[in-house]
Amino acid sequence: MSVVSIFFTALFYISLIIFLVGMARKIYQYWITPAPLKIPTAPTPLTQTGVVMRLAREVVLFESLFKSNKWTWLFGWLFHIGLALVLVRHLRYFWLDDLPEIFLFMQPFKYAAFAMVIGLFGLMGRRIFVERIRYISAPSDYMMLVLLLTIGVSGMIMTFTSNHTDVIMVKEFASGLVTFNWVNLPTEVHFLLHVLMVFVLMVIFPISKLLHVPGIFFSPTRNQVDDSRKKRHISPWALKQEQDHEMKLNQILGQDDSEGK
Ligand code: HEM
Ligand code: HEM
Repeated sequence: MSVVSIFFTALFYISLIIFLVGMARKIYQYWITPAPLKIPTAPTPLTQTGVVMRLAREVVLFESLFKSNKWTWLFGWLFHIGLALVLVRHLRYFWLDDLPEIFLFMQPFKYAAFAMVIGLFGLMGRRIFVERIRYISAPSDYMMLVLLLTIGVSGMIMTFTSNHTDVIMVKEFASGLVTFNWVNLPTEVHFLLHVLMVFVLMVIFPISKLLHVPGIFFSPTRNQVDDSRKKRHISPWALKQEQDHEMKLNQILGQDDSEGK
């Protein structure tokens, strides 16, 4: 194997471990963080099914973003839907058997990359030209968009220009990573840049705003049922206090009873 291939293979596993361990730690932290108060935002779902429907609308349609700003919604949604289709198309590199029908159906969707990249340019334009947004944008906000644009544009160079890469070799490299049968990878600069930036994305995922991916499912304003008028809500820590209180009360009442006799 070439030095470059060894370097990229090692880097893949290092990034993957950082991604998996980092995400597991964060999800655990979100999981154990108490949500002591009922704070779902209106219009509130009254049942568990309602919550599932609300979350589905948030994840698939970005419902609350649509209500707050149409331009941000348009570019944000274009980017995310494009990204989702692009990722499904990439399964063909890592899938070991024949791709299931449903994913085969997705393969012609290579133009999804345009939705992704146009969306990213729109989001970048918003940060640069809308004064109110520029004021609250940190360097990391721009870097995130630059990183995703670099991945998107380098991918499009391979798909839509004559600078193709050897996709059979990519398939062997990627499935080799899964089965631990390591082989050389193509060495065109745009392919190496594409993959290197993907590794950077994996590493920063658990320490950046990309945590909105698991975060949305743990957001109390979105995942709570509005049943506070039907059911008494006691947080676990308050439950302990209440049990102690009740025990003490029973003791006192018990003493009073025996004194009365
Ligand atoms: C469950 C899946 C996801 C959902 C529901 C989701 C939803 C959202 C929403 C609602 C925004 C807010 C836009 C705004 O208010 O400014 C956003 C922003 C963003 N998302 Fe996601 N997202 C998901 C997955 C991802 C993934 C996998 C990535 C990248 C790998 C990503 C990258 C970004 C970036 C970079 C922004 C900030 C855009 C900006 O600079 O304005 N998202 N996402
Ligand atoms: C290690 C993981 C990855 C590998 C090995 C890889 C490899 C490739 C290759 C070989 C192409 C060219 C396909 C062709 O010529 O038909 C491509 C295209 C592309 N890649 Fe990736 N990629 C990876 C991850 C990603 C990720 C995470 C993103 C998005 C954030 C992405 C975004 C794109 C885009 C937008 C295109 C062009 C459109 C398309 O062909 O679907 N890639 N990628």
